[in-house]
Amino acid sequence: MTDPRSNGPGQGPRKRVGILISGRGSNMRALVDACKTDGFPAEIVTVISNRPDAEGLEYARSENIPTVTIDHKQFADRQPFERALHHALRDARVDLICNAGFMRLLTAEFVELWHNRQLNIHPSLLPAFKGLRTHERVIESGGRITGCTVHIVRTEMDSGPIVAQAAVPVMPEDTPETLAARVLEAEHKLYPMALKLIASGEARIVGEKVVTEKDGGPVAVMFSPSLDP
Ligand code: GRF
Repeated sequence: MTDPRSNGPGQGPRKRVGILISGRGSNMRALVDACKTDGFPAEIVTVISNRPDAEGLEYARSENIPTVTIDHKQFADRQPFERALHHALRDARVDLICNAGFMRLLTAEFVELWHNRQLNIHPSLLPAFKGLRTHERVIESGGRITGCTVHIVRTEMDSGPIVAQAAVPVMPEDTPETLAARVLEAEHKLYPMALKLIASGEARIVGEKVVTEKDGGPVAVMFSPSLDP
């Protein structure tokens, strides 16, 4: 009999994914939508927000995905907040975490608990432009190409093995807002692609690098400027 959790004949059970958000949740939405496609090797089992008013929660609820709010302001410290987060993820039997616009720094303790099982998306071509005000700083730098990166989370902010990247041009007339919108479009394609690579096992984390192979050959983990035919 086929395992009802399987994503197709000969495939293992789909990976159970918990998404962490703090706001709009457009990347979360892209992941939720991707998981609906046939054979996708992951399913979203919970969406957790540290902000009760995060816009993204509404979409998750409309998709009948269980949501949890863990308001960091209700905790005196990072440790008890992260303990609550860890318990919520464990209760939902999460295999993999996807941070999607999650605006809390995580302690080394939490990152280690989820070692190699937590992904993040950052709107630059890492290791360049870590941190906040990314698009503003890219424009100030005069660089002509930026992009986005999905990486495995490590303790140092916006660092860790890179799973996939997309390149996006910086146009002469760009403002931080127009550039952010162009990069965001690429993010919505890149994050599902990266999750698929990790959840299917096509991408493996070897030391501090990600090795991606399918049928014995390397798989493209970078696109520019678009994956569209
Ligand atoms: C994205 O640009 C993501 O790369 C960054 O925060 C933003 C979140 O947007 N980490 P959304 O909440 O997914 O719409």
